[in-house]
Amino acid sequence: MAVDLLLGLQWGDEGKGKIVDVLTKNYDVIARFQGGPNAGHTLEFDGIKHVLHTIPSGIFHDNATNVVGNGVVIDPVVFKKELENLEPFNIDFRSKLLISRKAHLILPTHRLLDAASEAVKGKAKIGSTLKGIGPTYMDKTGRNGIRVGELELSTWKKTYRSLADKHEKMIAFYDVAIEYDLKSLEAEFFEAVEYIKQLEFIDSEEYLHQTQKSGKSILAEGAQGSLLDIDFGTYPFVTSSNTTAAGACTGLGVAPNKIGEVFGIFKAYTTRVGSGPFPTELFDQDGETMGRVGNEFGSTTGRSRRCGWLDLVALKYAVQVNGVTQLMMMKGDVLSGFEKLKVCTSYNYNGKVIEHLPYSILEENVTPMYKEFAGWKEDLTQLTAENELPENFMNYVLFLEKELEVPISIISVGPDRKQTIHR
Ligand code: IMP
Repeated sequence: MAVDLLLGLQWGDEGKGKIVDVLTKNYDVIARFQGGPNAGHTLEFDGIKHVLHTIPSGIFHDNATNVVGNGVVIDPVVFKKELENLEPFNIDFRSKLLISRKAHLILPTHRLLDAASEAVKGKAKIGSTLKGIGPTYMDKTGRNGIRVGELELSTWKKTYRSLADKHEKMIAFYDVAIEYDLKSLEAEFFEAVEYIKQLEFIDSEEYLHQTQKSGKSILAEGAQGSLLDIDFGTYPFVTSSNTTAAGACTGLGVAPNKIGEVFGIFKAYTTRVGSGPFPTELFDQDGETMGRVGNEFGSTTGRSRRCGWLDLVALKYAVQVNGVTQLMMMKGDVLSGFEKLKVCTSYNYNGKVIEHLPYSILEENVTPMYKEFAGWKEDLTQLTAENELPENFMNYVLFLEKELEVPISIISVGPDRKQTIHR
């Protein structure tokens, strides 16, 4: 069977965790393909909110196997905490959670390097989550990284020491004072490594290949969003992996001709955490209302998310780069009560009107141009069917669907599993 993909189309935090959880009943395997503990996938059901960072969002379903793919970077310390948080739910991790031997490990010194690198950048900082993501992917592409499979070798501690020593020299090279106690960070790290060794490490590309061959279904779960992609995002204010559809092929070892549906998730407005350009950002009451009603605080760092109108230029770009076949619109309920809504339909780019995402979307080059929509007052959070949705809300949805040329198959009207309208 083909592998379906699920991706965020904006700057992350679109609600991927909730939708993977909703879709998991249709799949045998859920596989994460990139990113690491910088992600925070939120799932809500039975009155409990769960935040997952590295563990795939299918973990709460009895019949799904969850795979952490080779494209993911794993911090054993964060991973152990995540597993411990799930202890009350009696999940059989040994059979339900499989880890790729080719996934790279985040060492304590990767986190320190992240902090040092951001500190020297001063005002130009990326706004990283400081989870060690960038330095780990740098070691991967620099061919210095340590992979999960290394933990099965007797030489692994020696390999660790030599990389950590090298990192310490690099930290000293940065012209910033980073205070740390490596001994205690390492004690925590090695304890966590022993803990995660209880899980099954696999040759994940082979596992996924056999899974497909036997007719089982796989959903690949992305993290972050397309505008944070290392190649196609708002570089350098991006993460260090390919968050777009191609990342699922390299992050799982799935061939492009084996990809089926590409589910693209977007919020009815736009948010961004960290630094970087954001043409439709609001600094007024409307932005404040979106942040407050939408509870726009980072699920990994707790930072306030920047909020703004929907940017259709950027969204069309993400649909195109990913080859999205179905859209899912999240958080439409947050826009209830706005007198008027705006959608950015083109940019004034250095005096010229354009409808594609240009090389630079910095404020000095780009002014967003908007189309206005009448708002709606009704609370959407209890609605369960499309025909109950207000007319003005549906005008908004139908306009987006027409412009994006892809059907919107799910409308989410709240964080709970149940607050999901299938069209
Ligand atoms: P890093 O990947 O932690 O280094 O962060 C790089 C940029 O990506 C920063 O602007 C982060 O705020 C952003 N970022 C990383 N992960 C996420 C996420 O899961 N949601 C939203 N933004 C993220």
